[in-house]
Amino acid sequence: VRHLLGIKNLNENDIQTILETATQFKEIINRPIKKVPSLRDITIANVFFENSTRTRLSFELAEKRLSADVVNFSASGSSVKKGETLLDTVNNILAMKVDMIVMRHSSPGAPHYLSSRIPANVVNAGDGTHEHPTQALLDAFSMREKIGDLTGKKIAIIGDITHSRVALSNIFCLQKLGAEVMVCGPSTLIPKYLGDLGVRIGHDVREALQWCDVANVLRIQLERQQIKYFPSLREYSLYFGINKDMLDELNKDIVLMHPGPINRGVELSSDAADSKHSIILDQVENGVAVRMAVLYLLAQQ
Ligand code: CP
Repeated sequence: VRHLLGIKNLNENDIQTILETATQFKEIINRPIKKVPSLRDITIANVFFENSTRTRLSFELAEKRLSADVVNFSASGSSVKKGETLLDTVNNILAMKVDMIVMRHSSPGAPHYLSSRIPANVVNAGDGTHEHPTQALLDAFSMREKIGDLTGKKIAIIGDITHSRVALSNIFCLQKLGAEVMVCGPSTLIPKYLGDLGVRIGHDVREALQWCDVANVLRIQLERQQIKYFPSLREYSLYFGINKDMLDELNKDIVLMHPGPINRGVELSSDAADSKHSIILDQVENGVAVRMAVLYLLAQQ
């Protein structure tokens, strides 16, 4: 495999290999000397056509921990603003002897388009509403760290499923690892085709929380909504928002996750996001090790 474009085309063995490699890297980066020379001769460009905090910094740190040379590109402030195409932009970056492209783009399929036209590895760091494979891998890694083998475990993905690339990559990844998956949210924010993927569909957040071992909560992606959706943020918060009392009332060790950025007071109250149930910052920590594993394994191809 030369590229990581999505989870859909990985098999269970591929995912296990990435997660096991990430476990080794997590041990390494918790030592006083965090760097390894594995990618010493590799140059990686992080090419971001969309905003990011976690993914971009996490990739950059992963690359630096692996001793790669790193350049960062943001579409804002670049010659994209003068009309340069995606392919021209990336070919110009590659002309500077770059070996790998980590790419985020608002158009679903943009990394797939690029991967068939350039002689470099491509890693999808999120393509529109399609996939966010490294997020799903770090989510699975974090769940396994907290509750062990995911076979038979119940995972609820709660929120704006329609506009979420995290949801689709999570569904593929969790099902391949043997978990049961439910999506829960307003019917206007759950695509009908998900039933064909074998996921449960729910519209009652309390029932979803009662059912699951892990709740992975997503934000409402207003920036991707072409039309004004029902519900409004206020309505969403009222009917689907999760607070600490709701978690405590369950009387079980539910695990609360969120890929970030959190809209505090909408999908999660602050007391829930910062509660003992939350492993949100563990997810961020694990992102570096998981991305090291992905880059290291791709560089071996
Ligand atoms: N989880 C995630 O993709 O966050 P960023 O958009 O900040 O990268």
